[in-house]
Amino acid sequence: MADIHFYTGEALPLELHKVRIVQHLNLVPVERRAEAIAEAGYNTFLLRNRDIFLDMLTDSGVNAMSDRQLAAMMIADDSYAGSETFTRLTDALERVFGTKYFLPAHQGRAAENIIAMTFVKPGTIIPMNYHFTTTKAHITRLGGTVEEVVIDEGVKVTSDFPFKGNFDLEKLEKLLKEKGDRIPFVRIEAGTNLIGGQPLSLENIEKTADLVHRYGKLVVMDASLLQDNLYFIKVREEKAKNLSIPEITRRISEKMDIIYFSARKLGFARGGGISIHDKSLYLKMRELVPMFEGFLTYGGMSVREMEAMAVGLDETMDMDVISQGPLFIEYMTKELIKLGIPVVTPAGGLGCHLDASRFIPHVSQEEYPAGALGAAVYIAGSVRGMERGTISEQREPDGSEHLASVELLRLALPRRVFTASQVKYAVDRIKWLYDNRNLIGGLRFVEEPSSLRFFFGRLEPVSDWPEKLVRKFREDFGESL
Ligand code: F0G
Repeated sequence: MADIHFYTGEALPLELHKVRIVQHLNLVPVERRAEAIAEAGYNTFLLRNRDIFLDMLTDSGVNAMSDRQLAAMMIADDSYAGSETFTRLTDALERVFGTKYFLPAHQGRAAENIIAMTFVKPGTIIPMNYHFTTTKAHITRLGGTVEEVVIDEGVKVTSDFPFKGNFDLEKLEKLLKEKGDRIPFVRIEAGTNLIGGQPLSLENIEKTADLVHRYGKLVVMDASLLQDNLYFIKVREEKAKNLSIPEITRRISEKMDIIYFSARKLGFARGGGISIHDKSLYLKMRELVPMFEGFLTYGGMSVREMEAMAVGLDETMDMDVISQGPLFIEYMTKELIKLGIPVVTPAGGLGCHLDASRFIPHVSQEEYPAGALGAAVYIAGSVRGMERGTISEQREPDGSEHLASVELLRLALPRRVFTASQVKYAVDRIKWLYDNRNLIGGLRFVEEPSSLRFFFGRLEPVSDWPEKLVRKFREDFGESL
């Protein structure tokens, strides 16, 4: 990352790339936004892209690709078996991780399915710093359970601790001691998604892996958000100051038995897979790939995406590339803090996270504050975020609501997609909304699927608060969009 300071002292992230292909965006009037979110059952997953200005739902599969990635897609070798593209991708993974074996899968959750089917059976326990939705679903589907062993700081919304994704090593050791016979592997999630893209330190990763190996268990890393975690290790950890990004990556990968990832995030393409050092482990999982994904040299992926991924993985070793996301997120987070708006701190990877519990404390958890804030942010600015609160949880078996430990609205910043002025616009509309937060009310379900309700569920406002918000917007902004 180039060390560039503005003469005026302004803290603004600077893009070290230029835009060469653009896509037009619509910004529809506030009245249409209110209509669109009603049509979508107040669920941002159900909005149509034509009604969205800044899509901050996710960074998954929507990061900008480089010219080198697009060029590589033109030389993809489209053969069912023995594709040269597969060899190039396996070589890229070996350069980056030092792994000899690679099992391709169509995306991250497919890799999770293969790992879970190989190691999880009824009664199995999988300890991890924190779960991800699809990870947990695959483990519980097979009768296993997840034990979260993140440090206490990890679930504190505001903190200045630089590595909130760290394992609590004492808790982990206790678990290994007491229930080790039920634990086949421990999962380390780099750049911990659901607690705000929070990283682990290199030291914690190494100590965790050593501890798990002492107990004879496997160490599995979910590297989907590794690029952000690498950046944070480099800039936040004294121990890593003099290590390059490829060196940090190797230090991590040498300690892992299995590394799997969503290439919709890592590698800036679309796909996924599992990298493995050891041949016998590779053979243990191999037959599931042709059964569920596709032949061993493509695993359900397009070879074009695989070429892009190979280049994207090499580009992930470049600080200029991987710093862009975290620097934009830090900028957005700091601007919001300056305006007094409650956010998750410190800024992490993936996106900026608004703390709905403090943004609209008058909306009770039973009325889904993070979901309501998601609908309100969309009405205010045509900015689409993702609810990460109680709606994203599942009800208890007795039908009672499982209240989430945090109520967050995630505003993802796909890498190299938005400009600083677009981020400034989002901050401006969120500030307007914050000044009018008393107008925001809660939501209730009208259609509630029994699983993954956050994807398809439909809700309605508990009062006419969306109309009030639209009226206030018109008063304050006049004819402006
Ligand atoms: N692991 C992590 C940490 C993830 O963030 C994701 C996806 C997956 C696994 C699953 O990968 O989508 O390729 O099947 N996260 C996306 C998100 C969906 O929006 O955060 P996938």
